[in-house]
Amino acid sequence: MGSKAKSTPSLSEFREPAIREVMMPRDVNPLGSIFGGHILSLIDLAAGQYARTVAPRKYVTKVMREVVFISPVNVGDIVSFYCSTKTLGTTSITIVVDVESVRGEDALHSIKVTSAEVVMVAVDSNNRPTPIMAARRGKARGPSSK
Ligand SMILES: CC(C)(COP(=O)(O)OP(=O)(O)OC[C@H]1O[C@@H](n2cnc3c(N)ncnc32)[C@H](O)[C@@H]1OP(=O)(O)O)[C@@H](O)C(=O)NCCC(=O)NCCS
Repeated sequence: MGSKAKSTPSLSEFREPAIREVMMPRDVNPLGSIFGGHILSLIDLAAGQYARTVAPRKYVTKVMREVVFISPVNVGDIVSFYCSTKTLGTTSITIVVDVESVRGEDALHSIKVTSAEVVMVAVDSNNRPTPIMAARRGKARGPSSK
């Protein structure tokens, strides 16, 4: 009684982003917020980084879809790109990317600014699709596996 209830930490406080970046003035659009194309390139980068944690392959971006710019991103925002696997196919991974922004002094409060779905395809040395699972098995055998 009388003591303040502690708020339960949100899931985002425990998740590890694929990438995190501070937004800089060089990337603003004429409206003064961050250019959407910059966010898109970071989504692409985050999905690629994430795919490599699923299995150590070379990946190319096949599809970017369902990109929703929910809220503007401002200069100085600390923007995190959280990725998760939607589907794991033979040669492709469909990745959901949730982009969250922290602004001002409240480092614990983030807002979702963008979401997207990215399909990354694992490719071999000839840049042709190659199975992902073989790489996952190789990863289990140790770091010397290719
Ligand atoms: C990626 C690339 C090698 C795939 O070639 P492809 O002939 O389409 O290969 P496939 O038809 O075998 O498809 C490969 C995978 O992509 C998936 N895929 C293809 N088109 C898709 C689409 N429109 N939506 C979702 N998945 C798709 C397939 O289902 C398959 O996945 P699966 O094996 O898990 O089922 C080729 O399209 C390419 O080189 N694209 C250019 C990549 C690029 O330059 N990206 C930008 C810079 S990284």
